[in-house]
Amino acid sequence: MDEVARYNIERWAALVKANALFTRPHLDLDADTARQRVDPDGMFGDLSGRDVLLLGGGGGQQSSAFALLGACVTVVDIAQGQLEGDQQAAEHYGLTITTQQGDMRDLSALGDARFDLVYQPYSLNFVPDAHEVFTQVGVCCVLVGCTT
Ligand SMILES: C[S@@+](CC[C@H](N)C(=O)[O-])C[C@H]1O[C@@H](n2cnc3c(N)ncnc32)[C@H](O)[C@@H]1O
Repeated sequence: MDEVARYNIERWAALVKANALFTRPHLDLDADTARQRVDPDGMFGDLSGRDVLLLGGGGGQQSSAFALLGACVTVVDIAQGQLEGDQQAAEHYGLTITTQQGDMRDLSALGDARFDLVYQPYSLNFVPDAHEVFTQVGVCCVLVGCTT
């Protein structure tokens, strides 16, 4: 683990403890507000049964929205506390959200997983080189239905 990863783990653990804005799961969504949150321009179409990967997307905000829209959601986030927010949201809505603690610069734990959509909330800025993440997405995930 490098210094960047260590720093982010520590900082996000502190933010979760402080109940900071980005760490609070959204527990008041319905299908309309969920769509508004993750797809305000209606680009993604019907998400029922689609496999969606959220990178650096822990906290239970986007995962709950995609899951409410019918997607099969996997969240990779470096902060365990953030992933607990996704599980809290899953329990609240009675939905399944798969969580995986890890660094989005190394997606090897996902093996040969395939996703229809890879979505990043505001998180790419937490790594020094975005290319590392994009390379991982290309190597580990074949986008079978990416909306451009
Ligand atoms: C601003 S939050 C974005 C997600 C949150 N759901 C939201 O709506 O604000 C940034 C997220 O990126 C995660 N993160 C930071 N560096 C990461 C890395 N290298 N790999 C995976 N996740 C990372 C943090 O733990 C945090 O959950």
